[in-house]
Amino acid sequence: MNDTNEDASDEKYVMSGVEAQAERSRLEQLEELHDAATLRRVASIGIPAGWRCLEIGAGAGSIAHALADLVGSAGSVVATDLNPRFLDGFSGAGRAVITHDITTGPVPPGDFDFVHCRAVLTHVEDLAATIDNILDSVRPGGWVLCEEPDYGSMEACDPDHPHAPDLAAFHAIMTLSGRTNGSAGRHTFEALRRTGLMQLESDSHGAIATGGSPLAQFRIKGLENARPMVMESGFFTDDSFNRMISMFNDPTFSYIENTWIATYGCKPEGLDRLSVVPTPSSPTTPPNSSTRGEAL
Ligand SMILES: C[S@@+](CC[C@H](N)C(=O)[O-])C[C@H]1O[C@@H](n2cnc3c(N)ncnc32)[C@H](O)[C@@H]1O
Repeated sequence: MNDTNEDASDEKYVMSGVEAQAERSRLEQLEELHDAATLRRVASIGIPAGWRCLEIGAGAGSIAHALADLVGSAGSVVATDLNPRFLDGFSGAGRAVITHDITTGPVPPGDFDFVHCRAVLTHVEDLAATIDNILDSVRPGGWVLCEEPDYGSMEACDPDHPHAPDLAAFHAIMTLSGRTNGSAGRHTFEALRRTGLMQLESDSHGAIATGGSPLAQFRIKGLENARPMVMESGFFTDDSFNRMISMFNDPTFSYIENTWIATYGCKPEGLDRLSVVPTPSSPTTPPNSSTRGEAL
């Protein structure tokens, strides 16, 4: 099944203009790098056979497939995306694909046992409202797992390396367009904490990467896919852009990658609605231009 929610417009997604094969290959690389950590978290929550799962912003779909294997023929998995162009292989009994924008409302029927998203909330404008929609998609007693990048950790290991300024330039990309939130990991934790989710846990994974490694190759792919957008910003010349590519190819350059912050918890039994409680200085309100940027 492929259903459509009328409000889903994939132009909201920063990589929507990227040629399909290039974006698919980048998303598959993301899966290779991070599925093991996601699946460890899913295992620690414990998803029994027969559960109804929801994978929001499923991308190239590996986690939707893994959840379908876990819940077996007695369970089901719905995979959503603003543009489900890479989910054509996700079909068969108990598997459904919906074109849906999670910023516009919960995913029907709104009573899933387990809801997961990864690298999606970094792309939304109103984090608190989107988290409310996620929680409205889960049944009381059901579980939510959100995993989002946080770029605060990204620094050169050797501040005197000739490429250190190029990493600072890469970091600056994340604050230029205002279309993604470079602090989504910590903001998502904070917003979920404020909902009163029970058994709230958070853990994170990150790495030191060296030029030429798979993590650095993923950065190159992101930069190349985003090259037209980045050049349009006017902040980079061909030379400064190409220096960032050389940095991620340079085996003498090491840096701390972004941190992936996972937050998970359980919606209390007997409670239909949980909502992010705002505070006057809430980081869950739409971030301003100094905290939003391109998560490449
Ligand atoms: C960086 S990719 C991550 C894909 C996948 N979650 C993963 O981690 O492998 C972000 C995905 O979220 C989707 N997306 C972005 N904003 C969305 C929204 N508001 N509602 C649903 N999907 C969204 C994009 O189309 C894209 O497929």
